[in-house]
Amino acid sequence: MMNNTLFIALAGLCVLSCGRTSGLDDMIDAAAELSAEQCLVLGGSLDDVTMPKTYVDGKIVTSNLKWWCSGFFPGTCWYSYMLTGRQDVRELACERTALLLDVDSFYTHHDIGFQVMCSSGLAYRNTGEEKYLDAVRRAAELLASRYNPVTGVICSWDFPEYSYPVIIDNMMNLELLTFAARQFGMPQWKDIAVSHADRTIENHFREDDSTCHLVDYDSETGKVLRKMTVQGYSDDSAWSRGQSWALYGYTMMYRETGLERYLAQAEKVAEYLLPLLAERPVPAWDFDAPEDMVSQDDASAGAVMASAFVELSTLTADEELSHRCLAQAEATLKALCGSEYLAAKGEIGGFILKHSTGFYMKGSEVDVPLTYADYYFLEALYRYRHL
Ligand code: GLY
Repeated sequence: MMNNTLFIALAGLCVLSCGRTSGLDDMIDAAAELSAEQCLVLGGSLDDVTMPKTYVDGKIVTSNLKWWCSGFFPGTCWYSYMLTGRQDVRELACERTALLLDVDSFYTHHDIGFQVMCSSGLAYRNTGEEKYLDAVRRAAELLASRYNPVTGVICSWDFPEYSYPVIIDNMMNLELLTFAARQFGMPQWKDIAVSHADRTIENHFREDDSTCHLVDYDSETGKVLRKMTVQGYSDDSAWSRGQSWALYGYTMMYRETGLERYLAQAEKVAEYLLPLLAERPVPAWDFDAPEDMVSQDDASAGAVMASAFVELSTLTADEELSHRCLAQAEATLKALCGSEYLAAKGEIGGFILKHSTGFYMKGSEVDVPLTYADYYFLEALYRYRHL
C-alpha cells in the first residue's frame, strides 16, 4: 500500500499537472466569454414579468417571478460579470435583479433563499447598495417565519398532500439566514438554520450517507411520518441533484458557522459521491436509476457538485480528501466545458449548459438546459479561478 505522504505528494502533483496546467484555465476563460454572450441573447428574449426556465423544441420556456428558479438568471448574469468584467452583462444583472426587489410580491415558499441570495445577495456583494440588503432582510424574515420549534425545521412547501414536508434542497436556503443573521444582528436566524441542518442530519441521511429527498414531519409532535422521493427514481434511490444539495448545503453551513459536525457531514457525502463520479464526472439524474433510464445525465447536479467540491477542498483538514475533491471538480468542469455540454455561441436560446434533467419520472425537463445548471456552473468556474 502506498504510504500517506507519498499519496498526498502524488495527488498534489496530479492536481497541478492534470488541473491548472492542462488547459482547464483556458477552457474557463472561453466558457466565461461565452457566458456573457449567452446571457445577452437570453436577456434579450425576456420581458419584465418572466425569467428563463429552459429551452425545449427550439423555444425558450419562461416562468413568472414567483417560480423557485427566478433568481438564477440574475445570478448567472452576476457571475458572468464577475468572470469577465463586462459592463453590458453587469447592466443586465442589475436590470434582472431589480425585478426581484419587492420580495413580498413573489414569495411563496422556502425557495425564497435561492431566489433572493442569487439575485440581491450577489448584487449586494458586487455593489454594496442598501436596496439589495433590504430585499435580503425581508426574505430572511419570511423564511424564518416558516420555522416551527416543534419540528425544529423550516417547512419547504404548503402543499396539502403533506403534513410538514422538508426537502433536502432546503439546505441551500439556509445561507440566507446565516448571512442575514450576521448582517442584521439577528442570532435567532442563525439558530433556526443550525436547528434545521441538525435535524436534517438526523432524519434525511441513510447508512451509506446518501440522502432521501423528502421527510414529512408531524407538525404537532415533530415526529417523522415518512421518507420519500418526489423527483428521484424511488423512495430508496439517490436522486443526484438531492445529493448535490446535501454536499453543497453542509459545506456552506460549515463555512458559515464553523461547526465541525457540518464539515463531517459534507465529508461523508463527498466520500459517498467521489467513487460514483470517478467513472462518470457528470452524473446520471439518479445514481440508482435502472438500466433503461441511466443514460440520461443531469448536468445541473454535476455543476452544483463541482462548485461544492471546489469549496470543500479549501475547508477540509484532510489533505488527501481535499486533493480528491479538487481533482473531481476539475474532471467535472472539464467535461462541462467541453462541446458535449457547453453551448456554441447563440445556441440553445442563450442558455449555457446542455443535458440537465429537472423531473425525469414526470417526463418534465429531460435532457434540456436549466437555469440553475448555468448558475452553479459559473459559480464553480468563479470559485475555481479564485482558489
Ligand atoms: N428544488 C427542486 C430541484 O432541485 O429540482
